[in-house]
Amino acid sequence: MAATMPLLFLASLLLLQGASASASESDADVAAPEVVVAAATQQNLNEKIKVFTVATEPTDGYRRYVRSANVYDIEVTTLGMGEEWQGGDMKSAGGGFKINLLRKAIEDLKDEEDTIILFTDSYDVIFTAALDEILEKFKESGAKLLFSAEKYCWPDKSLADQYPEVEGKASRFLNSGAFIGYAPQVYALLEEAIENTGDDQLYFTKVFLDEAKRAKLGMKLDTQSRLFQNLHGAKNDVKLKVDLDSNQGTLQNIDFMTTPLIIHGNGLSKVDLNAYGNYLAKTFSGVCTFCLEYPLELDEQNLPIITLAVMVPQAVPFFDMFLASIEKLNYPKESLHLFMYSNVALHDDAVESYANNQGKNYASAKFVLSVDELDERQGRQLALDKAKLQHSDYIFFVDADAHIDDSEVLRELLRMNKQFVAPVFSKYHELWSNFWGALSENGYYARSHDYVDIVKRDLIGMFNVPHVTTIYLIKHSAFDAIKFEHNDFDPDMAMCESLRNAGIFMYVSNQRYHGHLINADNFNTTVVRPDFYTLFSNQYDWTLKYIHQNYSTQLNESMVIPQPCPDVFWFQIVSDAFCDDLVAIMEAYGKWSDGSNNDNRLEGGYEAVPTRDIHMRQVGLDTLYLKFLQIFVRPLQERVFTGYYHNPPRSLMNFMVRYRPDEQPFLRPHHDSSTYTINIAMNSVGIDYEGGGCHFLRYNCSVTETKKGWMLMHPGRLTHFHEGLLVTKGTRYIMISFIDP
Ligand SMILES: *[C@@H]1O[C@H](CO)[C@@H](O)[C@H](O)[C@H]1NC(C)=O
Ligand SMILES: *[C@@H]1O[C@H](CO)[C@@H](O)[C@H](O)[C@H]1NC(C)=O
Ligand SMILES: *[C@@H]1O[C@H](CO)[C@@H](O)[C@H](O)[C@H]1NC(C)=O
Ligand SMILES: *[C@@H]1O[C@H](CO)[C@@H](O)[C@H](O)[C@H]1NC(C)=O
Repeated sequence: MAATMPLLFLASLLLLQGASASASESDADVAAPEVVVAAATQQNLNEKIKVFTVATEPTDGYRRYVRSANVYDIEVTTLGMGEEWQGGDMKSAGGGFKINLLRKAIEDLKDEEDTIILFTDSYDVIFTAALDEILEKFKESGAKLLFSAEKYCWPDKSLADQYPEVEGKASRFLNSGAFIGYAPQVYALLEEAIENTGDDQLYFTKVFLDEAKRAKLGMKLDTQSRLFQNLHGAKNDVKLKVDLDSNQGTLQNIDFMTTPLIIHGNGLSKVDLNAYGNYLAKTFSGVCTFCLEYPLELDEQNLPIITLAVMVPQAVPFFDMFLASIEKLNYPKESLHLFMYSNVALHDDAVESYANNQGKNYASAKFVLSVDELDERQGRQLALDKAKLQHSDYIFFVDADAHIDDSEVLRELLRMNKQFVAPVFSKYHELWSNFWGALSENGYYARSHDYVDIVKRDLIGMFNVPHVTTIYLIKHSAFDAIKFEHNDFDPDMAMCESLRNAGIFMYVSNQRYHGHLINADNFNTTVVRPDFYTLFSNQYDWTLKYIHQNYSTQLNESMVIPQPCPDVFWFQIVSDAFCDDLVAIMEAYGKWSDGSNNDNRLEGGYEAVPTRDIHMRQVGLDTLYLKFLQIFVRPLQERVFTGYYHNPPRSLMNFMVRYRPDEQPFLRPHHDSSTYTINIAMNSVGIDYEGGGCHFLRYNCSVTETKKGWMLMHPGRLTHFHEGLLVTKGTRYIMISFIDP
């Protein structure tokens, strides 16, 4: 009964958050009597079993521990909070401080034979059951004093042989992270004096290895993880089990088929505990219970001050779109200190002009360009130093490969109220993301059991992970822990390591979709308008930048496609950026054909109806353009020339034509050698040129009001004999393909 109480409570809490009010009210009514009974039992147990821990700071690990205790209605007395830690470096020996605090705390209980003392560490411990179950396991052990056990003899390995033998995969050695016992025995255990800096584990080990004392105290080790599980070296011994119906996450020890109730991430296993912790203690039940627990209410009159650190450590495509997403963040710019770092000459101008033009709207603005020659480490450190100087409440790092698609992202992250939190960003339709679910032994990437599900959003929630990059929000309380310096690691890995070492949890949230990563791999910056070349590596962003905003509406059967002349169809296909970039690419290349019949770019070397043009192949874009035809042109063709399916479309001739009064101003009537031809206007009549257009002789019909980014599509041979009309002023550019010749 006691164990189900928190479940009911949380279930009704969830209903209150989600479904209709009436459902939650009736649920609360049903739950009420059980809650009273359970609470009474729980109260008695809390009187009988006194739970102690030592913690000098309310770290994230401590908060997690207390949360797990609260979930199971376990009252914990924390010793040492606010005091200076006197146990030496916690990573190595130390911990006599814990013993001295505990001895003092239980002095008054030392004669109470019915009172049970449960002691646990807290920064790396999680409860996964209530006191009734813990008590039952303790009683079953037959011990008067039961210690957790682990696989390694520490800190004095030479004592290993003195331990009693154990069978099979049992844990032979004492671990001081958790123990339980009757008050008189626990007090007797702590009899000997110890320096604050002495080693608690060694202290208890010596008692245990003294057979007379061991017998007298009724002291045993929990060698089969019936109550306690130490995780170091036990990765293959345990299995996470999450029962979504009961919202109960537990670890099973598969060597002994036991379900330990108190989990300790001792030694190097803290990262493992963090990963399990995402599911233990009713943290996750299909919906993220934990996500709703500590929200920060944003006070619009008094929003946190944030240093917005825009980092450009590498050349990226679509930097214009990135800056636009930064500009659109829904957060008052007067509460943001802008810091921009560029290590890339290609992006310096854009960074400088953003800072100069937008900077005045921000609380302050500062930028560093590639000429300043700060490496990424220094750039990140400088951003952090600024945040400290500015007394910012947070720093929000955003790298240029993170495209924010949800302008609410910053507010959402603030509401999560964590020292470190990041949105999950991944490359579009790929598993490459901005976090790692696990670490390899040498500190690099390892895949966790839930990584794919989190990236794909099959599991939705907030997850404590060992490594985050690219976009993250850090609270000021974590500023001093951050170190970018490292001999072996890049700045991100160095930062994450320093946060892990400081016990600061890095959470990622995929509760909402906030944006995605662009792919900067193989980004060739030596070409003119390099973004244009990235259709294959970044189809999503390429489409956003280069395809006409209204493109997809034309795929709807109910939309009528305009026909300016019979069987000449007119589509909105590409953006102004497409036209401008492609014209710039062609003009930079500059080798326009001479307009004569001799054309060595063609197989026969002869062109019957020559134009002044440049082929896509000449600028390295032929393959890309064929892909463009396949993805974007073919579906439009299928809408208007019903029954003709050729996938992919073939086209040997994809070229831009330039018409000028003083060069080639028109083109005589001709047939195209194609099944159908497309003709995309690359600039605007009346603005960039005068005259021009296309005349279809059979129908005596002309299209002269062509529109930039719009495409004409018409049959090639036979019916659509046509000519290019005279350009009287300026320069007209069109992009032509003869499809399925
Ligand atoms: C970048 O493009 C240039 C010009 O097309 C080409 O010569 C070069 O090989 C490309 N570099 C890479 C790494 O693809
Ligand atoms: C898309 O269509 C809408 C409605 O017809 C129009 O207002 C808008 O200007 C079009 N977008 C572009 C880029 O032409
Ligand atoms: C197609 O257009 C019609 C009419 O505008 C609209 O009702 C329908 O939802 C559209 N279909 C799709 C798939 O967008
Ligand atoms: C073609 O149309 C124009 C006007 O649109 C007209 O003046 C001309 O006579 C027509 N030519 C033929 C051969 O019908």
